[in-house]
Amino acid sequence: MTSRCLSLVLCAALSGVAFVAVLSPARGDRATSELSLPSPLKDQDYLYDGAPDPKLVELGRNLFFDPVLSGNRNISCGTCHDPAFGSGDGLALGIGEGGIGAGPKRVTAVPVTGRVPRNAQPLWNIGARSYVSLFHDGRVETLNPGDAAGPIRNPAGADLPSDVASPLAAQAFFPVTSPIEMAGQYGENLIADAAHHENRTEIWDSLAQRVASIPDYLEMLRAAYPEITGADDVTYGHIAEALAAFQTTAFRSDESPFDTALRTGDLSTLTQDAQDGLTLFFGAARCSGCHSGPLLTDHQFHAIAVPQIGPGKGHGSDMTYLAATGLAARMEDEGRYRVTGNPEDLFAFRTPSLRNVALTGPWGHSGAFSSLEEMVRHHLNPLAGLAAFDPSDIALPPIEHLKRIAARGSQLRFVPLEAERRHAFEQRDTWVMASPQLRQRIADRNELSPIKLTGEEIENLIAFLHALTDPTAVSRSHMIPKSVASGLPPQPQPED
Ligand code: HEC
Ligand code: HEC
Repeated sequence: MTSRCLSLVLCAALSGVAFVAVLSPARGDRATSELSLPSPLKDQDYLYDGAPDPKLVELGRNLFFDPVLSGNRNISCGTCHDPAFGSGDGLALGIGEGGIGAGPKRVTAVPVTGRVPRNAQPLWNIGARSYVSLFHDGRVETLNPGDAAGPIRNPAGADLPSDVASPLAAQAFFPVTSPIEMAGQYGENLIADAAHHENRTEIWDSLAQRVASIPDYLEMLRAAYPEITGADDVTYGHIAEALAAFQTTAFRSDESPFDTALRTGDLSTLTQDAQDGLTLFFGAARCSGCHSGPLLTDHQFHAIAVPQIGPGKGHGSDMTYLAATGLAARMEDEGRYRVTGNPEDLFAFRTPSLRNVALTGPWGHSGAFSSLEEMVRHHLNPLAGLAAFDPSDIALPPIEHLKRIAARGSQLRFVPLEAERRHAFEQRDTWVMASPQLRQRIADRNELSPIKLTGEEIENLIAFLHALTDPTAVSRSHMIPKSVASGLPPQPQPED
């Protein structure tokens, strides 16, 4: 340490990559420790160096809140990534298209086929270049980070246009292809039909035409992209790029007390509890082993035995639900394994960024934890936490109207779910947790060893997590336009 370094003062490491903090024994009972803290965020850490063309951003803002991108014109990106609910939807597992209402009040308005299988991810700082993979399982991913023009692994393979500029723009190709999220169900509209046949190019072309045929959108598209002269020039790539530009600026969030501390090098701007929590986080509690860097994530995948609630992604190998109910579905969410097929990746999920984490509940990939404290406590002994987890405590939004596929192939149609099948359907919410074998499979992959912390230490960790809240992020509902270019009502509703 150089003589410039004082207690409770951060010292810029000469390398420039990190700050080293020297903390005094906070309450006289902890040894002075040296901590390696991340460097503060700067414009260049974001796509477009943090300053995309405002015309592109305005186009993206309209599209993000416009239900026009959904097959049935009834849901927008903003419905599930609501600025009033921490850029998520405030639900453990949301209701996609066919729902009505915002945030935790969302219910089904017309019959749907089920819940969205994972917790809607918050979008804070999603425009940071360090996001080389997107989604809980990283299924949209730059394979050569550092090479902006490199290949992007994605669920549509070679159907994804090769000129997509970032994983964030690539991500925007996918919500519109999901029947349950935005496309709708077979027979309801042409986009839903194309989604059913996994004909993604047709979905993207139809949406591009739909948007380009709206004069106000065409005008905005032409303003943002010089190469567009007429509606025929518009592709879904233009839409995706605008959505990426909007998300980059709209959800940038680096004004938390933690940021101030990183920028000024003065930790004393944090409360004493938060300073103690920081010491633990970057020290003895080993949180920064995974929650590292300025976004508090290593962007890697780890299995920490977070319980699963809800229907999962339907790709597991367990056939017990089918055997018990006759309903063709599999329930486990195997996380990263679905992408790589590598058994090491079973039940691993991407380490979430912890920025604004106090605003983004429920927590965990399936929203299994409804308090931040429970989520933190789970980390301290994941196996005990998983074993003790009681799924009946979870409040999931009721699904009043349900339909199911009545037949396959050319005869495919949907019928209301019969009352006698309702119970079998509802069992999906807790199936994995109700099965000792499936719980064990999740437990077997856990990679976190237990840590003993006192109640006070846990409180301090949570105080530090609150110091990651940017006061400007508490509600950004003002970003919702009063009207959007399609003339449809924006979703969610703008503030008065
Ligand atoms: C029905 C709710 C819903 C809608 C509508 C929706 N999303 Fe999402 N979004 C989610 C969920 C759930 C996830 C996580 C899915 C997963 O990991 O499988 C997610 C993940 C994301 C991510 C990845 C975040 C990360 O940390 O990796 C981005 C970016 C995103 N959505 C943007 C969008 C955009 C842009 C739209 C509109 C085109 C949109 N979403 C529409 C629910 C929704
Ligand atoms: C082995 C890597 C690892 C370590 C160490 C770790 N975490 Fe996590 N953390 C994760 C992963 C992975 C998730 C998401 C798991 C999931 O949803 O299945 C997560 C989730 C979280 C969440 C919920 C975030 C959200 O948006 O849902 C919080 C809060 C959290 N961790 C805090 C901590 C704290 C505090 C510590 C230290 C006590 C810590 N973590 C240590 C990997 C880690």
